[in-house]
Amino acid sequence: MTEGGAPIGVVGTGYVGLVTAVCFAHLGHHVVCMDVDAAKVESLRRGAVPIYEPGLDKLIEDNAVRLSFTTSYDELLAACHTLYIAVDTPPTLAGDADLSRVLNATHQIAQRGGRRLLVMKSTVPVGTGERIVADLEAAGLKGEVTYVSNPEFLREGAAIQDFLEPDRIVIGSSTVEDGDAVEELYRGIDTMVVRTNVPTAEMIKYASNAFLATKISFINEIANVCEQVGADVRTVAHGMGLDHRIGPHFLQAGIGYGGSCFPKDVQALKQLAGNSGYHFQLLTAVLEVNHLQKRRMVGKLKRHLGQLRDKHVALLGLTFKPNTDDLREASSIVLAARLLGEGATVSAYDPVIAPGDHALFPGVTLCADAMEALRGADAVVLVTEWAEFARLDWPAARELMRRPFVLDGRNFLDPETLAAAGFEYDGVGTGDLGLARAPVANG
Ligand code: UDX
Repeated sequence: MTEGGAPIGVVGTGYVGLVTAVCFAHLGHHVVCMDVDAAKVESLRRGAVPIYEPGLDKLIEDNAVRLSFTTSYDELLAACHTLYIAVDTPPTLAGDADLSRVLNATHQIAQRGGRRLLVMKSTVPVGTGERIVADLEAAGLKGEVTYVSNPEFLREGAAIQDFLEPDRIVIGSSTVEDGDAVEELYRGIDTMVVRTNVPTAEMIKYASNAFLATKISFINEIANVCEQVGADVRTVAHGMGLDHRIGPHFLQAGIGYGGSCFPKDVQALKQLAGNSGYHFQLLTAVLEVNHLQKRRMVGKLKRHLGQLRDKHVALLGLTFKPNTDDLREASSIVLAARLLGEGATVSAYDPVIAPGDHALFPGVTLCADAMEALRGADAVVLVTEWAEFARLDWPAARELMRRPFVLDGRNFLDPETLAAAGFEYDGVGTGDLGLARAPVANG
């Protein structure tokens, strides 16, 4: 609601819920954030942000007067008519999206009665909105609780910018009034608004993520072919991306995508299609290519080092991408486990992962800085392109390592700098010859 009006309620204070709440507060709305996790709510009340998202703590501080936090549905519902649902929808063992948290939230809201506008921010399979509306009607709430789909397109690490300067806002509703009410919340943001029905809005979200994941798997396969034929995927991607029909984005070859969205959303769309009788062949390949891409790194290390038994491999970066502390579906997890499985010793450093034991990396020595991780290593694999790795003192690193070999899983480092520091370099689709190949065109 607009400034001075009833607050917006947001259920779930994870990445999506918290960013949504704080950005709405920044737009001038009062926002009540609700989460069942008491420790999280307590820390947010103290101004301590439980997640790493650049700019978020400052934005919370700046908008503290318009933000409140609670664990109580009663408190939330006493204050709010418009309720955003932003709880997570992790994959079930069958690969579908697990809706239990979403359905629990809608159940809690429905149970307490009253006129409500439910707005779905969580990524839910196509058909979920209709299912929730049918459930609400069966519970005698027809006309009381209305439903709008308003999917998120927030990248971790750039979530605030993505919220405040989005490429588009998608609003799926069954009545014009409900859609208008949600559109009004975004007043002050200048962008295209796509107004449609609920299932179409739900599909826009899945199709967008599945398409982006397809782009990544596509360029990764091109990279793999480049390695066979002596082409350089970086220049191939540059040349392709200049065609405006293709565009330059999401053509960065590497060790595969991870994170909380792409892996689960691609899987969920494939399952959704399968459950409705359609075999989505392309997505099966997208998933498989992504899976194999992580394992290819082990093969490359073997080509350079021979058997990995008793070799020491250092990993630089563990998070699924830079500027986040998120390890969900990170390529590092599979890579580290495979290397240990081959009998290698594995050390690692990530700027936001504390040294010591970590449940996702059993058997890996997590170090306090990059140099410590590299000491005595036979190879270093750049897994996540944190900016500080480009600025590393590579000549000093070379002195510390047993063998100066860099496998750049993100084609992020400058091969010339590494060659000058005495390193052997290999990337993804850049060719073993590295420097002997055509240079990457700029601009
Ligand atoms: C993504 C979507 O971008 C966002 O719109 C959606 O709402 C949530 O999922 P996010 O998971 O934060 O956001 O990550 P993103 O920046 O999109 O990157 C996803 C993964 O793809 C990362 O592991 C990244 O390293 C990888 N990636 C991305 C590539 O390997 N190559 C690329 O060219 C781009």
